[in-house]
Amino acid sequence: MADNAKLIVEGKTYEFPVLVGSEGEKAIDISNLRSETGYITLDNGYGNTGSCQSSITFIDGDKGILRYRGIPIEELSEKSFFTETAYLLMYGELPSEGKLKSFSERLNKSSLIHEDMLHFFTGYPKGAHPMAILTSVVASLSAFYPVKDTLDPEDEEIIIANLMSQIRTIAAFSYKKSIGEPVVYPSNKLKFVENFLNMMFASPVKDYSLDPDVVKALDMFFLLSADHEQNCSTSTVRMAGSSLANIYSVIGAGICALWGKLHGGANQEVIEMLEHLRDTRTSPTAFVDAIKNNKGKLMGFGHRVYKNFDPRAKIIKGLCHSLLKKPGLNDPTFEIALKLEEIALKDDYFLSRKLYPNVDFYSGLILKAAGFPINMFTVLFAIGRVPGWLAHWREMRHDKHTRISRPRQVYQGPTRRAYVPIQDRK
Ligand code: SDX
Repeated sequence: MADNAKLIVEGKTYEFPVLVGSEGEKAIDISNLRSETGYITLDNGYGNTGSCQSSITFIDGDKGILRYRGIPIEELSEKSFFTETAYLLMYGELPSEGKLKSFSERLNKSSLIHEDMLHFFTGYPKGAHPMAILTSVVASLSAFYPVKDTLDPEDEEIIIANLMSQIRTIAAFSYKKSIGEPVVYPSNKLKFVENFLNMMFASPVKDYSLDPDVVKALDMFFLLSADHEQNCSTSTVRMAGSSLANIYSVIGAGICALWGKLHGGANQEVIEMLEHLRDTRTSPTAFVDAIKNNKGKLMGFGHRVYKNFDPRAKIIKGLCHSLLKKPGLNDPTFEIALKLEEIALKDDYFLSRKLYPNVDFYSGLILKAAGFPINMFTVLFAIGRVPGWLAHWREMRHDKHTRISRPRQVYQGPTRRAYVPIQDRK
């Protein structure tokens, strides 16, 4: 433990304990601030506020470090695969062969959704955004799979497998319905990512031949998306989960938060930006200048925590270099992305604000190369992020410090005033 932190308020000195994390992060525990001083803190966007103590993911934004349960993301992306890393995030250790086998069996066992849920998909208008479908169908799972108030470890394991597997099925079904094709059911003969690709791109009239490079690239995308400590959508999951809402609506809340273009929706925005530059033949230099002059946003750049390279962006950029070399997968927008990065990283506007490419800058190129329509990109991010959301949900449920999240505010509205009858109003 470090020395206490001292706060002098209205001439009186107060002391608050200092917590030191396993990687040296220091925090002042202000749990008793208001009861002792009558003061609260204000921290718009929570950039300086820890909401919990967690053992799942460690990020050092200054050094560009990302580790899942202590293992560097570079090692996991090289040696592991999505379902194994999902297990690591949710249960804290890499699984033995036996545990991995039973986890995979559980995922297969729960890959179907209730047949009556298929009616939902026909109720959406043509062109409905797949994220709109995903959020509502996932929240509706609680109607078909009611959740007990108290969950034992076995219940948790079933729910976790259900959600990881069924979100993937719902995503594929929503895509098939959006293009007017019949759904392709999951198969126990295929592994997690192959199963998803098959549900997405096979059809009753043609088989889908799995390209191992595309399978590997999508698996890596899911692995790199799997968790990122207290980001907006994960904090939403913790917030909703703290009221003991059922897990399906809690994950539905996380999906809603992820959809925002400042968060998971950025990967779709990046590709639309790159394609706009391609189609209008806009020079990347002119585009960057316009962003600087209009104080706009170069989508896929910047991060609340990374003030250096996002290690995930580096890995995905490398994946782009190899995947997009394949015949038929070459994509001119990749060259535009490389040019934009080169220009921005030489420009003081970006360097002075510590704006570097984040995970979304290159990920869309991988997804496009894999054949996914742009409006499915954030859905794919959600599929990858589910293990992280579930890991935090479990950690929160088992943390004895957890209480319902209920932040305070600084009120700036009108002071007390009387009701004015309508005839006396201006
Ligand atoms: C994800 O939190 C996570 O971990 C998220 C995530 C995860 O895995 O869960 O990593 C996934 O969401 C990645 C981020 C995807 N979003 C985008 O790519 C959208 C573009 N980026 C920005 O909107 C922004 O950088 C954020 C939202 C990512 C971070 O916003 P912050 O931390 O609130 O930063 P800010 O808006 O306060 O910006 C500080 C300055 C401002 O300029 P000044 O007011 O100082 O003049 O930097 C500027 C901003 O205008 N700025 C940008 C910019 N991002 C910030 N200028 C140009 N282009 C950008 N992309």
